[in-house]
Amino acid sequence: MRNSWKWWLLLLFASIGLAGWAVSQQVGREPLVYDDEQKGLQNQIIIYFSHVVAENTPKGLAAQKFAELVEQKTDGRVKVEVFPNGSLYSDGEELDALLRGDVQMIAPSFSKVTELVPEWQVLDLPFLFRDEDDVCRVFTGEIGAELLEMLEAKKIKGLALWSNGFKQMMSTTRPLIAPDDFRGLRFRIMPSEVIEKQFRLLGGEPVAVSFDHVYRALEQHEFDGQENTISNIYSKSFYKFQPYITISNHGYLGYAVMMNQAFWDHLPKDIQQKITEAMAEATQWNLQESKAQNERELQQLKRREDVFLYRLSEEEKRKWEQKFAPLYEEFAKRFGARLLDEIRESEK
Ligand code: SIN
Repeated sequence: MRNSWKWWLLLLFASIGLAGWAVSQQVGREPLVYDDEQKGLQNQIIIYFSHVVAENTPKGLAAQKFAELVEQKTDGRVKVEVFPNGSLYSDGEELDALLRGDVQMIAPSFSKVTELVPEWQVLDLPFLFRDEDDVCRVFTGEIGAELLEMLEAKKIKGLALWSNGFKQMMSTTRPLIAPDDFRGLRFRIMPSEVIEKQFRLLGGEPVAVSFDHVYRALEQHEFDGQENTISNIYSKSFYKFQPYITISNHGYLGYAVMMNQAFWDHLPKDIQQKITEAMAEATQWNLQESKAQNERELQQLKRREDVFLYRLSEEEKRKWEQKFAPLYEEFAKRFGARLLDEIRESEK
């Protein structure tokens, strides 16, 4: 008798375990129709939006803003669930997850898109943009639209270009001012041919490390420097390990906001329209807020005694630009000068 009890208990726990496993297998697979806690929402459309940065960053906040706008504009018919901090997928996994349809939206950095569409390397070129106005014109104008259209061939619906901000250089042991200061140092980079060559031209050794591993790699002293925006440096506390920050504004970190094409194609037309409107509003908000946030957090870093900030002079910048000239020549040789010329033209 006692033994038969044990068997029943074992069977019960095994069934619970199996049911739990089955539910976990569904997460991210078929979330289109979702019965929310509220009654009457059985036909709600759920969009899983995965990203890798903290919630309180230009991308994290814009994703939340977009989710709110979509919910308002569709009267709750569409719900955007945002998963920050790589909690669903790391930046090395998210593109594949989007293409498989395991997640419906992601917003990887431009560098990560270059693996799929090499022409996007143009956006990684150092000193491409002079200021945020240039960025805004390119992101929301014809060039931005043209870049987003290139994603269609890869079964991706490009929705918008979002901004984080200008990238700055940082290092563990010394300020990076003259090109020679980079010699012999190891730099964490995002996976990008242009960025890799940029550091090689400065005499550094680039190492591609995914964003979610940067903090741990810093703790283990795996590299001497990196480039990132003030908002990423601040929100992830990178300055605690690499306190020498050079305000160089040499590169730009932006994001391609994208949706799985098949998912988009299956959405009703009126929902597509509302999502487009919400994205346009969220993008305008992101372009303003990202600039303000980087400025605010720069002020916070300035107040810290353990952070050493240095602003590159115009003359010092010119020395970096001279070093980077081969990147432009190579881009034009490989892809033609048209895209570059159009960007330059739009900046006049
Ligand atoms: C991001 O902002 O999405 C990550 C940037 C990085 O990999 O440094």
